[in-house]
Amino acid sequence: MDSILVTGGGPLNGQIPIAGAKNACLTLMPATLLSEEPLTLTNAPRLSDIKTMTLLLQSLGAEVSSLQDGQVLAMSSHDLTSHVADYDIVRKMRASNLVLGPMLARLGQAVVSLPGGCAIGARPMDLHIHGLEALGAEIELKDGYLHAKAPKGLKGAVIKLSFASVGATENIMMAATLAKGTTVIKNAAREPEIVDLADCLRKMGAQIEGDGSPDITIQGVDRLHGATHQVVTDRIELGTYMLAPAICGGEVELLGGRIDLVGAFCEKLDAAGIQVTETDKGLKVSRRNGRVKAVDVVTEPFPGFPTDLQAQMMALMCTAEGTSVLEEKIFENRFMHAPELTRMGARIDVHGGHATVTGVERLKGAPVMATDLRASVSLILAGLAAEGETVVSRVYHLDRGYEHVVRKLSGVGARIERVRDQ
Ligand code: EPU
Repeated sequence: MDSILVTGGGPLNGQIPIAGAKNACLTLMPATLLSEEPLTLTNAPRLSDIKTMTLLLQSLGAEVSSLQDGQVLAMSSHDLTSHVADYDIVRKMRASNLVLGPMLARLGQAVVSLPGGCAIGARPMDLHIHGLEALGAEIELKDGYLHAKAPKGLKGAVIKLSFASVGATENIMMAATLAKGTTVIKNAAREPEIVDLADCLRKMGAQIEGDGSPDITIQGVDRLHGATHQVVTDRIELGTYMLAPAICGGEVELLGGRIDLVGAFCEKLDAAGIQVTETDKGLKVSRRNGRVKAVDVVTEPFPGFPTDLQAQMMALMCTAEGTSVLEEKIFENRFMHAPELTRMGARIDVHGGHATVTGVERLKGAPVMATDLRASVSLILAGLAAEGETVVSRVYHLDRGYEHVVRKLSGVGARIERVRDQ
């Protein structure tokens, strides 16, 4: 397995282009299943998770072509040949469950493996199931698979989510586009990826209102047609690279960055002493003089501070002046990076859903192991600020969500290389 070698060093300067959002693309791709006509996505990120979703869609009979070096995905679901999402694919990537709603709506049936737990928590699917049942689906669990049927088609309903789940909102929204009548999702997730999905579905002929607010209303239509859609900017890749100059010093411009995607995160950066300014090409980030200040963080659904930036923020707090408390409210087990950061000299005390971080002057390089996608990039950020060499192993986690990470960071002066397994 490849690893990443990072040599800590001086300030970073230059520009980093930000890709299209992984989590938007992973929900936009299954939207192709809703229509017989082609769906083309531009600004797609080049990631292994996108390849996994490609394989899943192909296994259902969809055609997916990757064009322009992977940045364009041309898809067609004219002839679907299967309605079974196999465990072998679903276990690799939880987002595979996003084919459930579209297949049920288009084919009246779907068999989708339950994903099981993952490194960051149990992650059940009860909210997806209750939502689709409210639309009239019959869902049974057999042999680890959800068997869903809607022989007479889906019917609009009012669905109140007990938690604003991103995936459940997406699955229900896609299914409801082809249901008879009106669906209202209450306490819906408000993430930018939901708004991006709604934008794309509207281009396909869906009637959706209220996305970006807690109440989404979907008026079902008989059929959806083809469309071309540009994937929204990846706010998590954006936030991750905003932290690079914050940790190392210097000034980096994030091309394509938008403040509305990272509002709560920017407020915390400001409190920590990091300057963020809007430019005509994106966002520019620099560290004001002196050490970063400790700030407390609570992760929350959008527009709150994203859980997907918690590990990276922890890396920043490891060298801050003072003590910070990071509270994780979305995933119960998302502090696996803490013991690895501790190996680099960080002072972190995890108790339940809280991590207390007492900043040290300087971290020290060490061999560390990535446990999930965001944990792996937090170790790279920590390595950039540490004295000496850090080797991050299990890089396949990183490849799931960060394209060209070595090229992007070395482009602003970081000393980073990929060490290929012999
Ligand atoms: N939950 C339930 N029941 C459900 C669904 C969710 O209890 O039926 C719980 C989960 O267990 C979790 C919380 O609700 O504790 C949030 O889950 P949510 O459904 O909102 O998350 P998701 O759709 O599974 C997406 C992203 C995650 C991101 C979360 C939260 C994709 C493909 N994944 O997951 O991204 O952390 O929203 O914002 O969109 C990542 O990119 O590293 C990543 C993990």
